[in-house]
Amino acid sequence: MNPTVRPATPADDAFLLATLGDAFGGTRMAVHGELLDARGDAAAIAWRDDRPIGLLTYRDDGTGGWEILALAAAEQRSGAGTALLAWIRDLARHRAVTRLWLITTNENVDALRFYQRRGFDLVALHRDAVTRARELKPSIPLEEDGIPLRHELELELRP
Ligand SMILES: CC(C)(COP(=O)(O)OP(=O)(O)OC[C@H]1O[C@@H](n2cnc3c(N)ncnc32)[C@H](O)[C@@H]1OP(=O)(O)O)[C@@H](O)C(=O)NCCC(=O)NCCS
Repeated sequence: MNPTVRPATPADDAFLLATLGDAFGGTRMAVHGELLDARGDAAAIAWRDDRPIGLLTYRDDGTGGWEILALAAAEQRSGAGTALLAWIRDLARHRAVTRLWLITTNENVDALRFYQRRGFDLVALHRDAVTRARELKPSIPLEEDGIPLRHELELELRP
């Protein structure tokens, strides 16, 4: 059965913190030259059998679009990621949001595959943006899986 998705409430804070910690090392993220709280303006949680299995956070970008800040599954390949993207896409359509977008990084080839297979289009490469972000957040690793972590990739979907 597909997971169900609901907006997060304060009761989900512990799950949000734990899952963001596991996936990204905490709530502080350095992206496109800003230091942000990965919890964003709002969040949604995917549930299966009354257990939370994934989260998505996002924020209004102030220009008619929404930026997805974090998408993470507590149980991989559980359908959480797909269900959360479908949920935000529906909501964006209803709210007449013009653009859903996100940043991922060059070493995250799994995410690149995942998003493109779900309709997101690669619209920009921000060269060495991660190298610059490391000045704001020195704990960003230098490499993952032997791939130097250097660039930001911007993907978008027109809901
Ligand atoms: C990307 C992510 C959110 C997907 O969530 P999920 O609940 O596992 O995804 P679903 O079960 O809905 O879909 C699984 C898809 O992801 C792929 N996938 C999941 N984990 C994978 C892995 N470790 N390696 C390769 N592919 C993987 C599956 O092949 C499947 O793709 P397909 O259906 O197109 O073949 C999850 O893998 C995750 O939390 N990753 C770590 C955090 C991250 O990188 N987030 C994205 C950047 S912000």
